[in-house]
Amino acid sequence: MTLNHPNFGKIDPKRVIVFDTTLRDGEQSPGFSMNLDEKLRMAEILAELGVDVLEAGFPIASTGDYESVRRIAQAVKGPVIAGLARSGREDILRAAEAVAPAERRRIHTFISTSPLHMKYKLRLEPEAVLALVTTSVTLARDFTDDVEWSAEDGTRTEADFLCRCVEAAIKAGATTINIPDTVGYAVPEDMARIFSMVKTRVPGAENIILSAHCHNDLGLAVANTLAALGAGARQVECTINGIGERAGNAALEELVMAIRTRPDAAPYTHNIESTRILRTSKLLAAITGFDVQPNKAIVGRNAFAHESGIHQDGMLKNAATYEIMTPESVGWNKTVLVMGKHSGRAAFRDKLNALGYGELGDNALQVAFQRFKDLADRKKIVYDDDIVALVDDEVTRDHQRIKFISLELWAGSKTQPRALLELEVDGVPHSADARGDGPVDATFNAILQIFPHTAELRLFSVGAVTEGTDAQARCTVRLEEDGKLVDGQGADTDTIVAAARAYIHALNKLIVKRTRQAPAALSA
Ligand code: KIV
Ligand code: ZN
Repeated sequence: MTLNHPNFGKIDPKRVIVFDTTLRDGEQSPGFSMNLDEKLRMAEILAELGVDVLEAGFPIASTGDYESVRRIAQAVKGPVIAGLARSGREDILRAAEAVAPAERRRIHTFISTSPLHMKYKLRLEPEAVLALVTTSVTLARDFTDDVEWSAEDGTRTEADFLCRCVEAAIKAGATTINIPDTVGYAVPEDMARIFSMVKTRVPGAENIILSAHCHNDLGLAVANTLAALGAGARQVECTINGIGERAGNAALEELVMAIRTRPDAAPYTHNIESTRILRTSKLLAAITGFDVQPNKAIVGRNAFAHESGIHQDGMLKNAATYEIMTPESVGWNKTVLVMGKHSGRAAFRDKLNALGYGELGDNALQVAFQRFKDLADRKKIVYDDDIVALVDDEVTRDHQRIKFISLELWAGSKTQPRALLELEVDGVPHSADARGDGPVDATFNAILQIFPHTAELRLFSVGAVTEGTDAQARCTVRLEEDGKLVDGQGADTDTIVAAARAYIHALNKLIVKRTRQAPAALSA
């Protein structure tokens, strides 16, 4: 049956709504916080990817969250912009205000319904929870016709009570009902049973969209989401690279490619432009400082690499022997030689467009172009991946308080390492001359001199963007301060400069994090 939705109009029965929660559930996990500019940039790239609903944040959590949801609602065109709210009046008013500027908006309100959560987390009797379902959805409907209601810990909720809550939410005007597997406990059979039950038992279920929101604690988030689709769900809640609370959420890229690759088992349609997946994944990694693991499905660097002789032989004869989808279909290009040091701005801009960076403003373009020229002077071959690393590195530094200017080093087996560093802090140039146990240590000591802080270094890792001894290094630095973790990344042909950039990136994120409070009582 064709369903009529306030924001999507008539929806084909096979159409799956992709609800992206990278900026809410994803951003809320340790180390993944983003500042306003980073969220805005991510939101734009998600809109270009084609997500239908973009959950921009949890407005009551902090002023920063509220502002970023509001800015996204003002600026980002295309997706429905959603804001999360618990069931209280303050939460819903704040979410309503934050999403108000959006052309199409949604309030997503939730309350826990499992016996465990009601008793220990909410300390409420089931009847009180049921009453809150009705009042929260009714209030949210005063601000928008598109209201989603979620039963937190839904998969561990007692069946009759879940059906009563869903019925109450539908009666109060919810247009999407989400049944989350909040703690990642379900197996696919549970999902199929729960969604079929709600669909057949709850009056009015045929007039709303059922949604699945699966966490990955047992590594089953994508399988569980597909099982929910099989039982009638038509919205999937997911994140880029599968980021999210604890083990994360269902990965958008895996769901989309499962649907595309297996139309026999997953006969659905969606609006995602799959060739933009890799670009989106890489930008998220650059912004958050968390690379995906090499063997991560779809977006890991080994996802399409064939190492063994037997596999390579098969691939040469017919790629379908070992490849179930093409790398190009998700945005991997063959590593290509791009341009040399004589290439001009226009050619560079064309290249950026081809790589999906058409939205770069003139200033960012100029800075990226200058860095490209420097790189071309130092590196024999400049690959597409070099340009992606360089531009992402630059873009994540826009609007940051501490900026890298220059670094000179003296190191080697016969001298005590020394670093001469120049940084800009709030627009004011500073320099430091420091020594250390190695060049990296000397550089980090110089940063500490210029910007004193108490954060501890928890991780320092180095990888290569492409191949060869002149490849750019990509460094990751993790800092911890008062239990708050942040990761920073930096890329450069000089490994120590990459390390300095990564450290400064992490410090900038820490400065943002110091001003934020944790979202209260939001368990997932
Ligand atoms: O996992 C969960 O239950 C959630 C809800 C707030 C939808 O994230
Ligand atoms: Zn969640």
